[in-house]
Formats: sequence, C-alpha cells, structure tokens
Amino acid sequence: MKKIIIAIDGYSSCGKSTLARQLARELHYTYLDSGAMYRAITLYLIREKISPEDEKAVEQALRQITLSFVPDPAGGTAHMCLNGEDVEHPIRDMEVAGKVSAVAAIGAVRRFAVAQQQRMGRDKGIVMDGRDIGTVVFPDAELKLFMTADPEVRALRRYKELKAKNLSVTLEAVRENLRQRDHLDETRAISPLRKAPDAVVLDNSHMTAAEQLVFALNQVAEKC
Ligand code: C5P
Repeated sequence: MKKIIIAIDGYSSCGKSTLARQLARELHYTYLDSGAMYRAITLYLIREKISPEDEKAVEQALRQITLSFVPDPAGGTAHMCLNGEDVEHPIRDMEVAGKVSAVAAIGAVRRFAVAQQQRMGRDKGIVMDGRDIGTVVFPDAELKLFMTADPEVRALRRYKELKAKNLSVTLEAVRENLRQRDHLDETRAISPLRKAPDAVVLDNSHMTAAEQLVFALNQVAEKC
C-alpha cells in the first residue's frame, strides 16, 4: 500500500488527535500533533513573560526555541519537547489554552511551525492534525478530513479529558475557551481555520471512536 499524507483539520476538541492516533497506529504511520507546537511556543512566551502583542520580542524568542518530539516513555504518543524539556503536561493547562490562539495568529510563529511541519512530512506516511494542515501545510495531501462536532459535546469531552489528567477546571471555563479559540482561529488574517475544498467532512457528534476510525479507514482505502 502506498504511503500518503493524511491531513486532519477542524474545530477545537472535536477528536482530531484521537482519530489521528488511531489512524497512525492502524497504518503504522507517524502522528504529528501540530497544535502541540503552538502550545509549546506559547508556554515559552508565558515563562519568559513575553506578550504576544510584542511581535519583535516574539520573533527574537523564536530564535531561542527548539521544538522536537520524543517517544512517550509509557509507549503512547510522542511527547512535545521545548528546548529538550518534556512539556507534554504543562502545554495542556488552561493558561496555555487561553493564550495559544493569539500566539498562533502571529505570522512569524506560523512560518516557524509550518516549516518544521513540512520537513516532518517529507517522507509521507504521516497523519497530522491542526487547523491549516490541508489548506497551507500540505495542500497536496492525498487525504484531507475536516472534523466537526456539536459544541456542547466537544466541551464535555474536553472537560472529562482534563479532569482525567487531574487538572482543576470547570465545564463553563472549558466551554468558553473552546468558543474563544474557534472564533480566533476562524477569523485570524493568516491561515484561518477553513475546510479545504477537497476535504471530506466528518461530524462525529454521534459517533464512537471505533465508528470514526472505520469511516476514516474507508477514506484511506480509496486513496491508496
Ligand atoms: O490542536 P490544539 O487544540 O492543541 O491547538 C491549540 C491551538 O493552536 C489552536 O486553538 C490554534 O489556535 C492553534 N493551531 C493552529 N494551527 C494548527 C494547530 C493548532 O493555529 N495547525
């Protein structure tokens, strides 16, 4: 079976990473979580007390940042590393979630992340999820999925996920964060969240994880 690039875009918390992980495992592909890169950059800026509004300082900060993925010691999905430090846990907290969309709207940040994402997809056999993967990072991806789900379903899923990680958060705060991120991601000037014209829509509001995998594998079979 020929190796392809699978681009998965869509709204926040609609199961993109779950599906990307399932597909990578099933097809023996590499999974790359592009959102983790924007989150790691945001974490660096928070730690260094650099405001996303100070674009000059952000550009300088990017020169100090090295992003990499390292294998999960527990055998799961690769962890995000910022300058060699495993930041998989802190990049998921609500402070980062509250600032990441403003950081991801900055042109220099996007150029930095996209260049690295494109390098990682050179050999194909990759599943990447994000907001601009099918439109900007890999416009020629063989398979593009655009995922969506009912906002309340998404908020509940995310809330349960964060609770399971023992992060202290309320459902209302999660709901508001998703609403704000979706709005910022859809309305930003550079690479806004859009469905690529050739993307297949997957609304998983009423699907189980197993059902969405079957749906996606059928799409893969058509492309390979
Ligand atoms: O996928 P995740 O929710 O972790 O992404 C965090 C944020 O990173 C998104 O809300 C979005 O602002 C930004 N992002 C982006 N482009 C991507 C992936 C994520 O702008 N390809």
